Amino acid sequence: MVGNLLGSGNYCKVYSANWKGNEVAIKSIDLGGEDPDRARGMLKNEIEIMQHLDHPNVLQCCKAGLGYFIMDRLAEGDLHHYLHAQPATTITTPLDPRLTFIQKLEIARQISQGMEYLHSKNVIHADLHTANILV
Ligand SMILES: Nc1ncnc2c1ncn2[C@@H]1O[C@H](COP(=O)(O)OP(=O)(O)O)[C@@H](O)[C@H]1O
Ligand SMILES: [Mg+2]
Repeated sequence: MVGNLLGSGNYCKVYSANWKGNEVAIKSIDLGGEDPDRARGMLKNEIEIMQHLDHPNVLQCCKAGLGYFIMDRLAEGDLHHYLHAQPATTITTPLDPRLTFIQKLEIARQISQGMEYLHSKNVIHADLHTANILV
C-alpha cells in the first residue's frame, strides 16, 4: 500500500509504502514533470547502476519495474531535513542535543566509505549533498 510522499527530485517522487511487510520507499518518475521520457531514461540508468552495487553505505534497490523502484526506507529521511528540523540555536553548538560530535564524525565516515566504494566501481555520484544522504 502506497502512503505519504517522502520527497521529490527533479524527475521523480518518492513515496513511503509497505511491501511484503517491510517499510519501504518507492521512487517513481514524476508523471506531471516536464519530460516523462527523459525522466524514465534517468530512472532506468539509476536502477542499472544500483543493481551492480552492494555496500552498507549505498542504498540498494530491492525491486525494480517500469518507471519505479523499491528500496529500504530510512527512518529519519534525508540529512538536510534532519539537521534543519533541529532548533537553529543547537545546530552549531557542541551541545547539540541530537547529534554529538562523534555522531557527526560517524556520518562523515559512512559517507566517505560509500563514496570510496562508488569510486572503486568507477561510479561518480556527481550530486553529493545532504538531501541525498539518508539517515
Ligand atoms: N529510501 C528512502 N527513505 C527515506 N526517504 C527517502 C528515500 N529515498 C528518497 N527519500 C526522500 O526523497 C527525496 C528525493 O529522493 P532522491 O532519490 O534524492 O531523488 P532525486 O534523485 O530526484 O533527487 C530525498 O531527498 C529524501 O527526502
Ligand atoms: Mg536527491
